[in-house]
Amino acid sequence: MPYKSRSSFQLSALPVTIFAHLIVIAVTTLVLVWLLHFREGLAFKSVIKAKIFNVHPLLMTVGFILMGGEAIMAYKSIPGTRNVQKGFHLTLHFIAFLSGIVGIYAVFKFHNELDIPDMYTLHSWLGMSTICLFGLQWLIAAFSFWWPRAEKQSRARLAPWHVFLGMVIFLMAILSAETGLLEKFLFLGLYRSREAMIVNFTGLLLLIFGISVGLTVLLPQS
Ligand code: HEM
Ligand code: HEM
Repeated sequence: MPYKSRSSFQLSALPVTIFAHLIVIAVTTLVLVWLLHFREGLAFKSVIKAKIFNVHPLLMTVGFILMGGEAIMAYKSIPGTRNVQKGFHLTLHFIAFLSGIVGIYAVFKFHNELDIPDMYTLHSWLGMSTICLFGLQWLIAAFSFWWPRAEKQSRARLAPWHVFLGMVIFLMAILSAETGLLEKFLFLGLYRSREAMIVNFTGLLLLIFGISVGLTVLLPQS
């Protein structure tokens, strides 16, 4: 049996998807506790400008990354026909994309209202490249695999590139979140505190989430 064969892993994707779902719950809880308990809370309009900023990490982690990861795992975690899985894959990715757009809008709004310059950090460059590539990947995939739908042969040629580039973009999103969390940690001067533990564990769990999602793509469904 060739060592690259999916079945040679001797493991199905199911336990890994369950583990990844648990991380989704853990990260969502950590981010909410961080922003609602340790920070100022959330708002789109407020005199407390930090509330506007806080919408950014919430939507980028929970809306963009966790939802995007669930979308990728849909081919392994959603029971039903391939078309049903494809419907979930496409829709969850669309929700992730919308969250990403609103999340980035929030941080631009925050910068604008406090007269802070835009796009001067590595984090912002990585983040902007990620969201642009994500939008492009979604459009190309929707035209090729959904509507109007390319011919069977073209779809088969495109599929491995779609999967590879999809994983690259997903990992870029994780990298953006890691740099964003680190940047915020330093801006806030957190050092040794309970809040620092929450921020660091969020980053660690996001990395483990990325690895788990990557593994489910390699593993067979059953
Ligand atoms: C996929 C995840 C993320 C993406 C795509 C992303 C994207 C961006 C972009 C494009 C900006 C630039 C906005 C501007 O220049 O006005 C920005 C700013 C910022 N983000 Fe994120 N972000 C992500 C996650 C996070 C997370 C989890 C945090 C942690 C709290 C964070 C913290 C910040 C901070 C502090 C800024 C302002 C400073 C700067 O321009 O870099 N980001 N983000
Ligand atoms: C930016 C958004 C997207 C990303 C990051 C992405 C990523 C991925 C990944 C990583 C896989 C592999 C899943 C696995 O084999 O377990 C995959 C499969 C697939 N995706 Fe997407 N996807 C996106 C949007 C879409 C859209 C809008 C469609 C339209 C229907 C689509 C159609 C497919 C199909 C048909 C497959 C199966 C390919 C095969 O035969 O191996 N994707 N996608």
